[in-house]
Amino acid sequence: MKIRFLLIVICTSLSSCWAEPETVLVSPNENIFLEFSVDEKGKPQYEVFFKNKAIIKTSTLGFDFENTTSFLDGFEVLNSETKAFNETWQMPWGEQLDVVNHYNELRVELQEKSELKRKLNIVFKVYNDGVGFRYEFPEQENFKEAFITEENTEFNLTQDYKTFWIPGDWDIYEHLYSTTKLSEIDAKNYKVNSALAQTSIPENAVNTPVTLVGKDGIHLSFHEAALIDYSGMTLKVNPKNLSFKSNLVGSRNTAYKVKRTLPFNTPWRTIQIAENAPDLIESNLIVNLNEPNKLGDVSWFKPMKYTGVWWEMHLGKSSWDYGMEMVDGKWTDTGKAHRKHGATTQNVKRFIDFSAKNNIGGVLVEGWNTGWERWIGFEDREGVFDFVTPYPDYNLDEVTTYAKQKGVEIIMHHETSAATATYEKQQDTAYALMQKYGMHAVKSGYVGKILPKGEFHHGQYMVNQYNNAAIKAAKYQVAVNAHEPIKATGLRRTYPNIISREGLRGQEFNAWSGDGGNPPEHLSIVAFTRMLAGPIDFTPGIFNIKFNEYKKNNQVNTTLAHQLALYVVIYSPVQMAADLVEHYEANPKPLEFIKDVGVDWSKIKVLNGEVGEFVTIARKERKTGNWFLGSITDENSRKIKVDFSFLDENQKYEAKIYKDGKSAHWNENPLDIEFETIEVTKSSKLDFKLAEGGGLAISIKKKD
Ligand code: NOJ
Ligand code: CA
Repeated sequence: MKIRFLLIVICTSLSSCWAEPETVLVSPNENIFLEFSVDEKGKPQYEVFFKNKAIIKTSTLGFDFENTTSFLDGFEVLNSETKAFNETWQMPWGEQLDVVNHYNELRVELQEKSELKRKLNIVFKVYNDGVGFRYEFPEQENFKEAFITEENTEFNLTQDYKTFWIPGDWDIYEHLYSTTKLSEIDAKNYKVNSALAQTSIPENAVNTPVTLVGKDGIHLSFHEAALIDYSGMTLKVNPKNLSFKSNLVGSRNTAYKVKRTLPFNTPWRTIQIAENAPDLIESNLIVNLNEPNKLGDVSWFKPMKYTGVWWEMHLGKSSWDYGMEMVDGKWTDTGKAHRKHGATTQNVKRFIDFSAKNNIGGVLVEGWNTGWERWIGFEDREGVFDFVTPYPDYNLDEVTTYAKQKGVEIIMHHETSAATATYEKQQDTAYALMQKYGMHAVKSGYVGKILPKGEFHHGQYMVNQYNNAAIKAAKYQVAVNAHEPIKATGLRRTYPNIISREGLRGQEFNAWSGDGGNPPEHLSIVAFTRMLAGPIDFTPGIFNIKFNEYKKNNQVNTTLAHQLALYVVIYSPVQMAADLVEHYEANPKPLEFIKDVGVDWSKIKVLNGEVGEFVTIARKERKTGNWFLGSITDENSRKIKVDFSFLDENQKYEAKIYKDGKSAHWNENPLDIEFETIEVTKSSKLDFKLAEGGGLAISIKKKD
């Protein structure tokens, strides 16, 4: 292996190399080593090593097509070359300002030896934090259009990792994570929550990111980057061989899963590799594998905290729908409105006032437009939702004028109910309406089975729906936060108006899931799985943890301090203060943290953590240079040490600490919280105790 490395170092540092063809690659820090080869049958394959240990054993690469022979074997290497790349780019908003994009690349050009002589290129990029590779189908005489029935990318692993997974559902990511050995994954028997409007798990497969922890401390996460005009990839599990194989999301309407005209590239297949859990969160592999910003100046969008007419519907205090009735084919206000409608001018003004008072920049209004009488569970949803017509008790002019006076922005809501034709048809007018009112962010939703029938949320048809909606929205200076979305694959680098998304089991499940809600460990897993893909609209900040006055059998399963910590643990440039105004007003002390906490960061420091157990993250606010810290734990209480050496040199800070009280416990006593204000500097070291399901939040402001 030593000689190999020497050869590689020479090969990657010189523009040409004597060893032909080039088939090996190392990371800039030389910890990761990748070798590509074509076996005696002409099968393309690769291996990955980390610090001389095999991570991916010989794994083959290929495709099946609907109307032509597979890409399986019979290939020869026509040409291959390596190059080094190093740049630093800036996020317009994000977890950090500067992102280092440093990798070595190997590009292999393959051709079939048979008479068709079809070509396939494979490009590998090896970073210090992992590996990305993709297939390129170049323009060629004997291959004009690809009808891909399956992609056969193997990931053959070398140990029976502890795996944090959700099932490979073609329609939804809103599942609780299971923690099992790789060999014990059984996605087809996963118990699906009955409240989910749609779900489809055809294989023993997992969705990505899927995160694996080895006995030797190796941490891996598998995912994809730059998912464009292609199907989402699930990973089929072979429990006996300890391996994953790509399994693309399909459609009931076609035998193929992906249709593309050549030339085209697939998304990147990614393997994040780390020696500890915190390094996974600090990895930038996924965004780095995407193209640079194509939108140019996006300063029209500003990261913000927001409140909204939202939780009250999930609690049953109010409703989305107004109570319209269908008369002669038209939705009509027959005067029978049930008076529970949440999105009224008056109610929204209450949220605007509260937000303006508490340094919160936005107010989301759900249920403002006609159509809510027929959305969930209805088959004929096309033509129902209208994205420009408000209900009679909601005055868009009045609300937006009032909000502007108060320095608050209204966040638009488009629940498409997965009726894609209706949404596509109205997008231009809907986004133009937003532009007219100076609204720069929309939360979209795709609840229910996809229309047209037979398509799935994560297939090629929908990937294009989500991406095209965001690209079109950008033309109207609109940023998108999709729920029931396609997974994040770092496209926000190319289209920064893709600001956030759901794509996980969010806070709302605590209001109605019927299965006990999200367990205390939920976010300690999410931070190391779903969050590696990109920003999350989780909607934290529930203060009335038990909400018995609304729903006796549901609750949030964390302490109040844990809810505060989530503003720092979870990254999103739109971060909701999700609870009701009256619940915040009854708790002015903890509300101070939400008022103070940043949403846009120049630096991230993950101080400690173990997947599924706990995590502590510190983030530096761009605008002020102040720091914020959040720490959460699972159902176990634990002691953590916080070393403040991440702070600036020669600077004193005022630390406002929000911690679990002595008898705090997610179920027994979730509201027990203590406050303390002390001075800290770079040399401070403090011990804290997190309660069962508990947390810790600290705002660390510079002192003059
Ligand atoms: C599901 C979304 O996740 C939730 O936030 C929203 O309130 C409802 N759909 C209605 O659109
Ligand atoms: Ca949802």
